[in-house]
Amino acid sequence: MNADVLSQKPYPNKCYLPFILYPPGMHRNTEGGNFVTTNIDMEQPGVDFTLYIGVPFCRTRCKSCPYFVSLLPENDKHNREDDYVDALLMDMKKWSSYRKFGEGTLKNIYIGGGTGSVLKTANLKRIVDAVFENFNVDADYEFTLEGNARDYDDEKIEYVSHSQINRLSLGVQSFNPEILSVIGSPHAAVDSARVIRAFQAKGLTNIQMDLMYNMPGHTLEIWKSDLKILNELNVPHFTIYLYRIHNETPQHKLISKGKVAAPENPETIMVKAMYREAKQMAEDMGYTMYMVDHFCKPGYENMYNHWNWKVYIDTLAIGPGSYSYFDGFRLGTESDIEKYIEHARRDEFLISSITDKMSPRVQRERYVVFALLYYAIEYAFYESKFGTSFLDDFADEVARLERKGLVTLEHDRMQLTELGLIWHTNVILEFFNPAFWGDTSSLSEKNWSLNGVMVEVGAHERSYWLGGEDQTFFHPLIEIAQVSEEKDLENVQ
Ligand SMILES: C[S@@+](CC[C@H](N)C(=O)[O-])C[C@H]1O[C@@H](n2cnc3c(N)ncnc32)[C@H](O)[C@@H]1O
Ligand code: SF4
Repeated sequence: MNADVLSQKPYPNKCYLPFILYPPGMHRNTEGGNFVTTNIDMEQPGVDFTLYIGVPFCRTRCKSCPYFVSLLPENDKHNREDDYVDALLMDMKKWSSYRKFGEGTLKNIYIGGGTGSVLKTANLKRIVDAVFENFNVDADYEFTLEGNARDYDDEKIEYVSHSQINRLSLGVQSFNPEILSVIGSPHAAVDSARVIRAFQAKGLTNIQMDLMYNMPGHTLEIWKSDLKILNELNVPHFTIYLYRIHNETPQHKLISKGKVAAPENPETIMVKAMYREAKQMAEDMGYTMYMVDHFCKPGYENMYNHWNWKVYIDTLAIGPGSYSYFDGFRLGTESDIEKYIEHARRDEFLISSITDKMSPRVQRERYVVFALLYYAIEYAFYESKFGTSFLDDFADEVARLERKGLVTLEHDRMQLTELGLIWHTNVILEFFNPAFWGDTSSLSEKNWSLNGVMVEVGAHERSYWLGGEDQTFFHPLIEIAQVSEEKDLENVQ
């Protein structure tokens, strides 16, 4: 990477937001489950859509996970799992009773969480069967089950590998036992490789794994060894997430008390070297970073993200903590599992939070925010979707980005530059409606899933992340010292 690029500071503070919710400003729904039928034409002709099915359970609580909702003990004395799956099935049936989804084409299904794989084999089968009974699933569908290696016994591996599920996502995090223990992962280090090999032997090879870097005690050596094992396992897709300490999690408390070492600052040389190493090793191993932090071999892009973010079709999301997006609304289901079950039993949707009907402007902002995870906005596609020109709609934002060297304007697209890639979350924040920074009420809602991350962004003024209109921050002395250290490190490796 060239030193000039590393030495530039186009914004005052780099944003390391790991996932984006757009638009973040939602409010409490006062119309109950009827919200959809009152505000949306549910009898419109069928649409193309994706289906997210949330499983809000985990066997253990990882110490700094923002997705955690509830523990599901092995003995499950109160039958919560069965009751929950009953509720999901009722919910699916109800959604499919409307023409919009019942007659639409389901392009992609994703069981996530929490931990989708925690469910008993019989319950997974009930969910998979219900998807195909209730909806018109596209012939070319992709169906992902997200989960953890700890949950896979022989029976589950046998069922899943011969079921309509055709893609697995595993939370691997690391292959190092000490690291897994310090972050509180449910599985043992050997489980992930064992389960991946067992699935491969049964013919299910479309496997993706999540890895994290910069966990407490994680060194460059361990990281390189994690990447090497990944390569040996020959999985076609992986993601790398920078480990974050989320406020009010057990890990946050342990670190505050000095019982666990804090992760390194992401701006340190070691962390930057970890990121660079992952990119370089991935390239050498035949993977492409086709999307921010997502790597795949040819033909193995994550199609769930592709449909939702690149093609921008409707998302129907069911289960506590999940968010739908269609007809200009974002609709959220709070993370209270018992409330969700009660609502399903009463044949009612649980819709806890909603946006106002998004203006065309906000719908376009939302598209740009997500499409930029793929580094570019294609003018013709944008125009085919919205009937207007991207360069006209976002003339001020684009001019600012171009002036700072974060994007280039090609004949058919706006493309992130190398500098734009380094600062990509700040670039994305440029397209956030400034009104977001004035909205404090929705961000204080505790059980609205993942709000915590947006609270961190909203805790600072817009100018903290983006600076003034024309500011470019350039601190050559400090940054160049760091660059030369980085060069030294490169030479040592
Ligand atoms: C919803 S979890 C799904 C995986 C599955 N439940 C498991 O952990 O085995 C998605 C991913 O979020 C990532 N994640 C969890 N805690 C994180 C943290 N504190 N910082 C960054 N990423 C995190 C992990 O890589 C995890 O696999
Ligand atoms: S990382 Fe996965 S298993 Fe761990 S708490 Fe989060 S969702 Fe649950």
